[in-house]
Amino acid sequence: MERPWSITGLWVVGLVGCLSVCIEGLGVNWGTMATHKLPPDTVVKMLKDNGIKKVKLFDAEDSTMGALVGSDIEVMVAIPNDQLAVMNNYNRAKQWVQRNVTRYLFNGGVNIKYAAVGNEPFLTSYNGSFLNITLPALQNIQNALNEAGVGDSIKATVPLNADVYNSPQTSPYPSAGRFRSDISDLMTQIVQFLSKNNAPFTINIYPFLSLYGNDNFPFDYAFFDGVSQPVVDSNGIQYTNVFDANFDTLVSALKAAGYDNMPIIVGEVGWPTDGDKNANVGNAYRFYNGLLPRLAANKGTPLRPGNIEVYLFGILDEDAKSIAPGNFERHWGIYRYDGQPKFAIDLSGLGQNKLLVPAQNVEYLPNRWCMFNPNAKDLSKLADNINFACTFSDCTSLGYGSSCNTLDANGNASYAFNMYFQVQNQNPSACNFQGLAMITTQNISQGNCNFPIEIVSSSSWRSSPVISVFITLFMFLLL
Ligand SMILES: *[C@@H]1O[C@H](CO)[C@@H](O)[C@H](O)[C@H]1NC(C)=O
Ligand SMILES: *[C@@H]1O[C@H](CO)[C@@H](O)[C@H](O)[C@H]1NC(C)=O
Ligand SMILES: *[C@@H]1O[C@H](CO)[C@@H](O)[C@H](O)[C@H]1NC(C)=O
Ligand SMILES: *[C@@H]1O[C@H](CO)[C@@H](O)[C@H](O)[C@H]1NC(C)=O
Ligand SMILES: *[C@@H]1O[C@H](CO)[C@@H](O)[C@H](O)[C@H]1NC(C)=O
Repeated sequence: MERPWSITGLWVVGLVGCLSVCIEGLGVNWGTMATHKLPPDTVVKMLKDNGIKKVKLFDAEDSTMGALVGSDIEVMVAIPNDQLAVMNNYNRAKQWVQRNVTRYLFNGGVNIKYAAVGNEPFLTSYNGSFLNITLPALQNIQNALNEAGVGDSIKATVPLNADVYNSPQTSPYPSAGRFRSDISDLMTQIVQFLSKNNAPFTINIYPFLSLYGNDNFPFDYAFFDGVSQPVVDSNGIQYTNVFDANFDTLVSALKAAGYDNMPIIVGEVGWPTDGDKNANVGNAYRFYNGLLPRLAANKGTPLRPGNIEVYLFGILDEDAKSIAPGNFERHWGIYRYDGQPKFAIDLSGLGQNKLLVPAQNVEYLPNRWCMFNPNAKDLSKLADNINFACTFSDCTSLGYGSSCNTLDANGNASYAFNMYFQVQNQNPSACNFQGLAMITTQNISQGNCNFPIEIVSSSSWRSSPVISVFITLFMFLLL
């Protein structure tokens, strides 16, 4: 389908945005698993104010898509894993395309470029649940896009985790990269289909995770400023960072499968700032300020020099994400939950020490915190109450190596109580905890440990009936 508006639109953005801010191919992931979401219009304005021209979503929510209308930001919409099974039905896939893609393709609509089918569906931790349904879903979605006449400009792809490939122990080098043996045939079929449709391979690469849970991993190799001992591949290529090595392992796996030239998008890359001893602002700063200048210089990797399309993960912290992978999961944002930048990061890749433009006109709840009541007499139920507060809010900053790990016992209690109180929109009844808590207007933050005030949010978590039932049940058990 012809979309002349996107050509003029791109031109205007090109003129305005790229003067100061613009790495060709740079995008961000916009996840929305937060108890208090910034209004989508606010987020889109942040993207524009920072010259970010590509965004990757995890669904196709109306409110998000609505905010992107007319922005000309390039969008990757997505089908969550739990909808892959229904997309095995071609008619349902056609409906999805109609409802969540073609509906937005009017003049001045949404500039949709990709449809992500699933999100890391082959993670070993999913026990193969999505192995049989991902390829049929991919085929149906691309075929439906083709049938709708938009398949030339909109490509279906499957964002995969880097655990779909590896190098054998006998030759632990990028050049020996192959698809994981248990899914090797499936991966080859997927690549075949992508190739036939001129669609890209999408991979998520996380140097932070290489470090996490592996104390023997050479620390500096996770960053981009050099290592004392490069990894020398059997072909003589020297690797000084795990991002390049990981990417080139994929390049080799694709080559071995017969697809030397398959385009590769990095769907997610980033560094979290809390929730682990290596997750902090200093390391995140070091990571991004090594990565971005390389992207700006179109350095590419040893096996794939040149421009790489990369989506940073992610734009905002998400306090309702699952922490099954680790406490750091809720702290991937280059912005905090409220749209305030966490550290200097220069998206132009010129290495300037500057902060991102913050979200505008953010509305906060009043300056009220919930704290442990130092006069409380009966402390026998303190642990249960902290447990309750943390079950329904985010206490990941209390953990080992995290920003609030040095609080004393009372501080811990206050932190937990406050997090719950904020999630509950400062409802006074959410700061009781059987008489153990009280409301204060004093900022009770301590040192690096911030006791946050939530933002006003129309889409509050509390409104979910399922959660309310859980909370009621939990309260009941506590009594
Ligand atoms: C469109 O996307 C939304 C959000 O991801 C999803 O809930 C809905 O089921 C999709 N519509 C169709 C017809 O599949
Ligand atoms: C995968 O299997 C493990 C062990 O059998 C189990 O603990 C886990 O819940 C399973 N995960 C999923 C997503 O089914
Ligand atoms: C996938 O399909 C294979 C072959 O038909 C079957 O043996 C296997 O149980 C299926 N796996 C799942 C998770 O459905
Ligand atoms: C505070 O809570 C954290 C996380 O639960 C725990 O590791 C720490 O030991 C607690 N501190 C005190 C003094 O109880
Ligand atoms: C509370 O104090 C902390 C640390 O001193 C500060 O970073 C934060 O902005 C303050 N919060 C408010 C709402 O003023």
